[in-house]
Amino acid sequence: MAYNAVETITRKRDGGRLDDDQIRWLIDAYTKGEVADEQMSAMAMAVFFQGLDDAELATWTQAMIESGERLSFADLPRVAVDKHSTGGVGDKITLPLAPLVAACGAAVPQLSGRGLGHTGGTLDKMESIPGWQASLSDEQMRAQLASLGAVICAAGAGLAPADKKLYALRDVTGTVEAIPLIASSIMSKKIAEGAAGLVLDVKVGSGAFMKTPERAHELATRMVALGNAAGLRSVALLTDMSTPLGLAVGNAVEVAESVEVLAGGGPADVVELTLALAREMVALAGLDVDPADVLKSGKAMDAWKAMVRAQGGDPDAALPVAKHHDEVLAEHSGYLTGLDALGVGVASWRLGAGRARKEDAVQAGAGITLYAKPGDKVVAGQPLMVLHTDTPERFEDARAALEGAIQIGAAPVERTPLVLGRIG
Ligand code: URA
Repeated sequence: MAYNAVETITRKRDGGRLDDDQIRWLIDAYTKGEVADEQMSAMAMAVFFQGLDDAELATWTQAMIESGERLSFADLPRVAVDKHSTGGVGDKITLPLAPLVAACGAAVPQLSGRGLGHTGGTLDKMESIPGWQASLSDEQMRAQLASLGAVICAAGAGLAPADKKLYALRDVTGTVEAIPLIASSIMSKKIAEGAAGLVLDVKVGSGAFMKTPERAHELATRMVALGNAAGLRSVALLTDMSTPLGLAVGNAVEVAESVEVLAGGGPADVVELTLALAREMVALAGLDVDPADVLKSGKAMDAWKAMVRAQGGDPDAALPVAKHHDEVLAEHSGYLTGLDALGVGVASWRLGAGRARKEDAVQAGAGITLYAKPGDKVVAGQPLMVLHTDTPERFEDARAALEGAIQIGAAPVERTPLVLGRIG
């Protein structure tokens, strides 16, 4: 049956339920260009305000999956487990996590994207490694997964094309933050990807889409339910994103920090989250190993080097360094009580680590190195962070983004726990 776009929009606008066939028709007609962008924009706004119930959400997600191809890793000699982060500042966890979980015995396909806005993209980070190539054919990706157990590469255009179109529309119509639209967007791609298990890292705080634990909990619960109902065993961790993860924010600086973790060092929070996510993935894959032992053994570093080399990169080459550096100093003595993730993320983006339009290039060396984190004692005049860029005219805008982002108080503060909850 053919539905009418205006009636479909007004039904949702007025708080009604959409029928399964109506949803399938809407997604299919939008993908084919028969429902216009302005109509789908109105629909996205109606969903933003009225929501989708669980049955509507399941049908919406399934329709997005059916708009494109489905992969399967069932023929691999290892169990494929996937991870997705809803995005945060300094979130480089995929880089140490994929080789670590591969070294534990699972297969980890990380079909990733480039960054847009203040959260960085995994491919932008990896591309700062000299020679490394993001694009692999389907056969190359599978061959690498079978032989090495880990691949980080560009997601092909074939997975959930309806989401690609709808996400671009949401980005320019103020409808990104709708929980059902985020849940269906992420889970349609993850279910279509065809792994056996999925660990979701749902970020909470100023640097994340979800600013409150309540909203993050709702998003995580709905995504886990969608995954499990579709046969993708799913677990979510809710993790803090009120302050950046680790001490490096940018591209090459985040690769360097990831390599430190693989070498047995690195900031405590990055190590903690890498191991927490790895334990969940290993459990989903049915493996009886402790990722902390594997990390200590050096096998994760071996897997990283093999993974980088397989895609043309030189894991031992020096990473690019920005041409200009500028220190941000502590204005008072005391304790760092706040270092706002959003402020630091926007500053790093303005330094050239991120892009404003998808056609823009990023600077490999741009970003921020932090010298202090919330809870640390600081002395007036000491450097709190260093800003890096190839284009020094950007320093002023970056500093403006940091205004109000750094708080120093007289008394120490408790560090916020990193893992705030688990759903699954
Ligand atoms: N990431 C996605 O893939 N989709 C969203 O809607 C938000 C974040």
